[in-house]
Amino acid sequence: MSSLNPVHKKLESIPVHVGIIMDGNGRWAEARNLQRIEGHRKGIETVKEIVKGSIELEIRYLTLYGFSTENWKRPSGEISFLMGQLRFFLRNEIKTLNEHGVRIKFIGYRGSLENDIVDLLQEAEEETKNNNVLQLVVALSYGARQEIAAAARRIATQVLSGDLDVEAINEDTFAGYLETFDIPDPDLIIRTSGEQRISNFLLWQSAYAELVFIDTLWPDFSIENLKDALNEFNRRERRYGSTV
Ligand code: IPE
Ligand code: IPE
Ligand code: MG
Repeated sequence: MSSLNPVHKKLESIPVHVGIIMDGNGRWAEARNLQRIEGHRKGIETVKEIVKGSIELEIRYLTLYGFSTENWKRPSGEISFLMGQLRFFLRNEIKTLNEHGVRIKFIGYRGSLENDIVDLLQEAEEETKNNNVLQLVVALSYGARQEIAAAARRIATQVLSGDLDVEAINEDTFAGYLETFDIPDPDLIIRTSGEQRISNFLLWQSAYAELVFIDTLWPDFSIENLKDALNEFNRRERRYGSTV
């Protein structure tokens, strides 16, 4: 994150919100006879590069899927490594992100995270809240079904207490109860590593997102790959159910 190089020529149109399912760290390491955690170590370097590249490309919202609710099923050693890496990132990188005008927001179920991490997430959000160059959303302990169920619970509670009229519940009001209430829907979702699935990422919000699947494993993902995905996005015709 130290310097910003002019890495791009102007692309036709830049999607406002790009989501990335960062997959393939483990396979990257296994292909080199390394432990899976080495893939995560390299993967965090890719995160820094891609955040920097997104600023240069003038993407306004970047959502990175870092850890899913289902990832809690992984071996405890891998989970502790990932949490350690997250702590290190929160302690050391927020200052740089702040200097680059990045506003950070975390989505996901904080109840499963350790208290000190929850504090660090809050501090990072607070420290960067006035920035507006890039809004970086990090999905941590995140699952879209859990997010939707939590929204339904909050809505039901408000209906029961008489604060919300049942008739007032529509797509827009519902979206307002999701964690992404203040973020536009993703225009483009990229998944690396060749897997072609959503794995519980932004299910509600991705209703009309363009999906781009890339074979490259996340630790090898580069700004060139990101630009290729943006070019692919530009070749797509978005119709939103209409005929034109
Ligand atoms: C993505 O890489 C990172 C996380 C899900 C935390 P993986 O760890 O899923 O790597 P593969 O898919 O096993 O190669
Ligand atoms: C999705 O990757 C979650 C993240 C990238 C954080 P996974 O590797 O967990 O997904 P599956 O298990 O292949 O569906
Ligand atoms: Mg994976």
